[in-house]
Amino acid sequence: MANVTRKIGLSLGADVCWPIAYEAIMRQLKLSIPVGGDTLDFEVERVRIEPFDLGQSCRYDVVIDRLTHWYNTSREWIKKAVILDGLYVFNNPWSIQSMEKHSSYCAAMRLGLPVPETLLLPPKEYETSPDLQPTLERYASMFKLSDVGDKLGYPMFMKPYDGGGWVGVSRIDGAKALETAYDESGKHVMHLQKSVEPFDLFVRSVGLGPQTRQVLYDPSAPLHDRYTQKTDFLSPDDASLLHDMTLTINSFFGWDFNSCEALRGPSGVWSPIDFANPCPDSQVTSLHFHFPWLIEANLRWSIFCAAHRRTKPHNLNWGPYYEIADSELPYREKLSAYAGIANELYETEKFEEFCAKHLSHLEEISWEWFGTDAAKDAVRQKVVALYPENEVEDFTEIFWGRIQKWRVLESARGGKGAGTNEPGTAGGNEKGQA
Ligand SMILES: Nc1ncnc2c1ncn2[C@@H]1O[C@H](COP(=O)(O)OP(=O)(O)O)[C@@H](O)[C@H]1O
Ligand SMILES: [Mg+2]
Repeated sequence: MANVTRKIGLSLGADVCWPIAYEAIMRQLKLSIPVGGDTLDFEVERVRIEPFDLGQSCRYDVVIDRLTHWYNTSREWIKKAVILDGLYVFNNPWSIQSMEKHSSYCAAMRLGLPVPETLLLPPKEYETSPDLQPTLERYASMFKLSDVGDKLGYPMFMKPYDGGGWVGVSRIDGAKALETAYDESGKHVMHLQKSVEPFDLFVRSVGLGPQTRQVLYDPSAPLHDRYTQKTDFLSPDDASLLHDMTLTINSFFGWDFNSCEALRGPSGVWSPIDFANPCPDSQVTSLHFHFPWLIEANLRWSIFCAAHRRTKPHNLNWGPYYEIADSELPYREKLSAYAGIANELYETEKFEEFCAKHLSHLEEISWEWFGTDAAKDAVRQKVVALYPENEVEDFTEIFWGRIQKWRVLESARGGKGAGTNEPGTAGGNEKGQA
């Protein structure tokens, strides 16, 4: 029986707040977990960006990666470490690189999910290249944009086929607006997608391994209010459907951490509109009330993966999903069956047993930490990074207040913090809110 240290690397960019929370709570967990005859403790380190030899070994068991979607050096270091050193990383870098929003619509459609009718346009403008002219002259069909618009029907959304962060997204209500938006899209390849209207619920369902959380989202609110603090807004049936949908798409693409956006449109049908966010918003300035959930979910999943030295499946295996898709099962049962595949891939049962046995103190420790000055300072650091100086105090209090509201609700739910003083700002100080 040996003492073994498992190493978790954080591959970070502009993230400020969540790594501080993650590292602090990890330290306080003081883990000493017996696995396979060894006793494991855990170390967290921020991954450095530096020249690397393809033959050098990797000292991490798990990497939580936040850079792959835009920073190639880290992505290629991760790929090397997965292939040569058996690193477990979330998310799968090959899958992030190749599966944009477009693939996620196609996959969702293939599996029978009701994606709003979507079509893809060739770009309005091109980078010149020697092959461009002959290619377009020989093969590009002329089309009338207004015919395409009439066929799909208004209102619709135009958005980049690989988009994120609302960049280049516009709602279009007629032929003239379509013409203008297409002119402005330049070299980007755009989707046109039928608008889900009216919708009564917009949910962001965040998945981390087998864990999901459904957050009611208000796209019309200012940035800091878009993740609402509402709870109990979903029926158990709707909550379970969104859970299964999220696990379906995430496991299909080999993503452990993804945020899936769905709208409940006319006749109560949930339409996926954006299921490809494999580096989801993790900032306290957007998540606030939900931020502690994210930290706890991230700790549970990464510790489990590191403890068991989880290995990546060597490829994505879509056959079993297609068998279900092609079966006679009704839609809801298909979703359950896809989620069944996901639960096998994520080893959900083993994960839950592991958490119950070794991480039962996590929630209490996290609850305590989110009441400390260190936690408040971490919130402030993120606010400082994003807001003008004269708004820092007000917004720090807003986000801090929402975390304290979470603590109050948690202690009512699970008796956490019994015997300790309630935080003074409990219930939220919303002064200064826009
Ligand atoms: N089909 C749609 N129906 C209704 N609203 C939509 C639709 N597609 C996009 N939107 C709105 O536009 C926003 C941005 O679109 P989305 O596909 O999520 O792009 P991004 O990947 O940039 O987040 C969504 O949050 C939603 O408010
Ligand atoms: Mg989106």
